[in-house]
Amino acid sequence: MKNTYLELIEQTFNFPQDEFELKNGNLLFHQIDLAEIIKEYGTPLRLTYLPKISQQIQKAKQYFEQAMQKHNYTAKYQYCYCTKSSHFRHVLEEALKNDIHIEISSAFDIDMLKRLDALGKIKPKTKIICNGFKPVNYLENIVQIINNGNQYVTPVLDNYEELDYYKNNITTESCNIGLRVATEEEPNFQFYTSRLGIRYSSVLNFYFQKIKPLKQFKLRMLHFFVDTGIRDSIYYWNEFKKCIKLYCELKKLCPSLKAINIGGGLPIKNSLGFNYDYQYMIEEIVSMIKTACDEEQIDYPEIYSEFGSFTVGESGAHIFSVIGLKRQNDSELWYMIDNSLMTTLPDTWGIDQRFILLPINKWKNEYTRVNIGGITCDNSDYYNSEAHISQLYLPFVEKNEVEPLYLGFFNTGAYQENISGYGGIKHCLIPSPKHILITKDKDGKFQHSLHNEEQSADNILNILGY
Ligand SMILES: Cc1ncc(COP(=O)(O)O)c(C=O)c1O
Repeated sequence: MKNTYLELIEQTFNFPQDEFELKNGNLLFHQIDLAEIIKEYGTPLRLTYLPKISQQIQKAKQYFEQAMQKHNYTAKYQYCYCTKSSHFRHVLEEALKNDIHIEISSAFDIDMLKRLDALGKIKPKTKIICNGFKPVNYLENIVQIINNGNQYVTPVLDNYEELDYYKNNITTESCNIGLRVATEEEPNFQFYTSRLGIRYSSVLNFYFQKIKPLKQFKLRMLHFFVDTGIRDSIYYWNEFKKCIKLYCELKKLCPSLKAINIGGGLPIKNSLGFNYDYQYMIEEIVSMIKTACDEEQIDYPEIYSEFGSFTVGESGAHIFSVIGLKRQNDSELWYMIDNSLMTTLPDTWGIDQRFILLPINKWKNEYTRVNIGGITCDNSDYYNSEAHISQLYLPFVEKNEVEPLYLGFFNTGAYQENISGYGGIKHCLIPSPKHILITKDKDGKFQHSLHNEEQSADNILNILGY
């Protein structure tokens, strides 16, 4: 007889990990009884467990605090939340409880911050780092808040022309700015230099010729983001060291420079076998900056980060029901789910992102190799491999079992709606799933509420003009 799914997982991984456990044969996520949630709300559903966001922020702050203590690093660490990873009000409100700063990337982000400010959610000294290529409405919004007296806004120059706009429109006596250095892409990319930021070799010249003569502007921050993420790879450390070297050179010419911004890219668990030593990586980052500054005899910079996925990814999950089985040939078994992977978890399709995938129930069934099919007609709407193997195993179920198999994709809290849209219209008119918010009350009891119903036909047809 074949092993059960539970045995397969126990033999393959150190299960349970801190996020998951089994209770009465059903899966708990952060101790939340998912079977209960399904009983109350049905599927498909997307859930956000808000306390996880604060936990992640606190974790990152601790990693840096320990690393800075260990290396006697005397400048500060500044945690910024990268709003583009999830703009939901509940996400920002939770994040902002943790004494953080904000990194934004578009004009509407500023409208969003104004709303949060009106609600009293933003502390007066919250720094706002404005990144990205800036069309005129974004520039106008940035200039407006600076001219209204917010001294904590730092536009990060993405290109030369951006500075001209500020020069012509900012009326305050002094304004802090940053500068983004374009990193080199990994050699397997088709293009070698990121389109974001100013070329490494042009930075010093740009500073000398354009920024330095403008007394109104103080260059405070050098920003670089290696967008393949913070990884223990030769490529990452290479780019990182290059940027620190540039920081040191620039600092000697530009005394106002005080901060290095390392962007985002701290990874999250995408499989039960995920193995990443956060403390080690952050210690390396701190120690490399310190060593370079000691060698060049310059002050240590404040270190800013803009972790998006790390902040919000592990707070999210998507749960689907298996609503049909298909055997396309002797070996190929398909579990059809009640939504689309392509439209609801677009990273699975667009960048071949893997998430932790676990059944919620039926752990004592035998395991079998399967493919998961979404219900659009698109042949890309499927999921059939895990991060650690190019196969997928789940509990075996028969057709027409009374209780369906429920499948959870975990740590899906970042970017998915921002890529696919939330609501709106989707491939084959597959609706956005319902969205549940879960939090804990002061006695540690879980509280859940419906944030949005599953999208209705009326909602979709209205958009389409019917
Ligand atoms: C400038 C910048 N900072 C931070 C981030 C966040 O990255 P992550 O979600 O990987 O932490 C991004 C993501 O694209 C980015 O472009």
